[in-house]
Amino acid sequence: MCGIVGILGKQPAVPTIIEALRRLEYRGYDSAGVATIENGHIGRRRASGKLDNLVKRVDGEPLPGLTGIGHTRWATHGAPTENNAHPHATENVAVVHNGIIENHEELKQELIELGQVFNSETDSETIVQMVDYHLKQGKTPKEAAYATLQRLEGAYAIAMIFASDENIMIGARHGAPLVVGFGEDEMYLGSDSLAVAPMTRKIAYMPDGVWTVLSHKGAEFFDMDGSTVECPVQTTALMAGAIGKDGYRHYMEKELHEHPVVIGQTLRRFVNPVTHKIELPELPFDIKNLKRGIITACGSAFYAGVIGRYWLEEIARLPIDLDVASEMRYRNPPFDQGGMGLLVSQSGETADTLAALRALKQAGQKIISVLNNEHSSMARESDVVLGMDAGVEIAVASTKAFTAQLTVLACLTLVMGQERGTISSEYADECLTALLDLPSRVAEILQMQEQIQKMAHIISQVQSVIYLGRGIMFPVAMEGALKLKEISYIHADAYAAGEMKHGPIALIDNTVPVISLLPSGPLFEKTLSNLQEAKARGGRILIFTDAKGAERVKNIAEQIVVLPTVHSFVTPPLYTVPVQMLAYEAALLKGTDVDQPRNLAKSVTVE
Ligand code: F6R
Repeated sequence: MCGIVGILGKQPAVPTIIEALRRLEYRGYDSAGVATIENGHIGRRRASGKLDNLVKRVDGEPLPGLTGIGHTRWATHGAPTENNAHPHATENVAVVHNGIIENHEELKQELIELGQVFNSETDSETIVQMVDYHLKQGKTPKEAAYATLQRLEGAYAIAMIFASDENIMIGARHGAPLVVGFGEDEMYLGSDSLAVAPMTRKIAYMPDGVWTVLSHKGAEFFDMDGSTVECPVQTTALMAGAIGKDGYRHYMEKELHEHPVVIGQTLRRFVNPVTHKIELPELPFDIKNLKRGIITACGSAFYAGVIGRYWLEEIARLPIDLDVASEMRYRNPPFDQGGMGLLVSQSGETADTLAALRALKQAGQKIISVLNNEHSSMARESDVVLGMDAGVEIAVASTKAFTAQLTVLACLTLVMGQERGTISSEYADECLTALLDLPSRVAEILQMQEQIQKMAHIISQVQSVIYLGRGIMFPVAMEGALKLKEISYIHADAYAAGEMKHGPIALIDNTVPVISLLPSGPLFEKTLSNLQEAKARGGRILIFTDAKGAERVKNIAEQIVVLPTVHSFVTPPLYTVPVQMLAYEAALLKGTDVDQPRNLAKSVTVE
């Protein structure tokens, strides 16, 4: 979702703003823009499309000024044109906004009647026009900003600069993230700590409903009643170096290669190396007597949640309700007090998941969140955060965060299983040993590029692909299909293998390859029968299996990728890696923009 940045600095602001926007481009790349103050005048450059278009604009027509704001947009209201690009500005004020102003139509009408002239189709322009109106009525920038913020409904992170005073900048946050960075006589605003990482490590994560007035000396924070609030300054460990491509062609390729490290790091967080036991923070309910849980999340994080359900139900014998976050609230399911609400999110800012979290809290559920960003909104509003150590994920399509989420959910399952007495300590040890071995097995898969490229060649030439999985392999199939759609634009759907004969089999012919995730085990034979059914109808069968399975499928498969043989507990994270690699290789062959696929953005902060 849009990225915003602001600098109240001592050097020309635009080059630093553009570098910060580069680190925020994962949040949207429909258009980009910058505005600065110079000699009491607001200057602005904007361009539709990727940030590089803005760079060309600025190179051709440089923009001086020490104070400035920048924006990279994921379009909500108004087409992704230059005219709708942020910053929006009048001669008095310039504003960048991430979020949606829900009452913009009503406010726009009011402002038009007061004589304000609108120049774009965006909801965001309402903010700038309202501040401008108040400034023209003689209010100070601070008064004008406050009067405006009190009228806004919806979600926003905002940065504003003023022609009349280049020594202040105002920021506000309500339902979309915003951080304040503290430098030497310089101050920064950014959508996340990554935006300001190279400038400073001193950061305040603004709470919801708080606005801030920045000067060269520091920041004052206020709530919506205008009272001063404290906002602690923290030192972030994030280094600018964490965000390079390290010689890989794409962030996605780099992040795929980080799977082993990320799984290992996440395990190190929870596994005591001396006792060889998993230690979690204290959970906010009595694990033994817990009656029910609900898991909710969006997209890939949801599929991680589906795998979590299979684990928790089978191993910890805990009944789990499950829904995508954008739908969960509308079902309005009944709850007993004190149940477990389990949220999964890389960013911790996804608006649908955050809204689901709040609904679950209101329904008396205790919230556990599996998060990569432990300073996020979800982290603040959860009872317990189970952090994953995936590091910064920049490619829009999630990869390493997914296996990190599974690692956390696996640890949670084993702890719950033991506490509830549903598994023996021998079984728990076996599973933990398999988890600890997982980074090495995943590293082996990362070497199988050639075989995966061969499969990618097949699917890059078709319009549509079917992924099949049975049991816990079904959500892995869904993750594979989502990744392929997202970055290669090849249509893909995942079906529970047994469901195929109830409809999707009608699609099968030699133009629709069927990819099956087929580790040997109790579900192998039944799934193999489903593949035979597809083969009998001319389907081209492509299979990921292990050495034992490979023997059994060699007569029906056009291609087999033989994965390491592992304990059945860790097959979901293991089989995830090659399907993500397959999507990457197919996207390379299709020549798409792998890290920034069309129409998408990371950290989706609108519902
Ligand atoms: C898919 C992908 C998305 C996210 C989803 C949730 O590759 O990245 O489907 O998984 O938008 O995002 P988080 O995990 O940040 O809540």
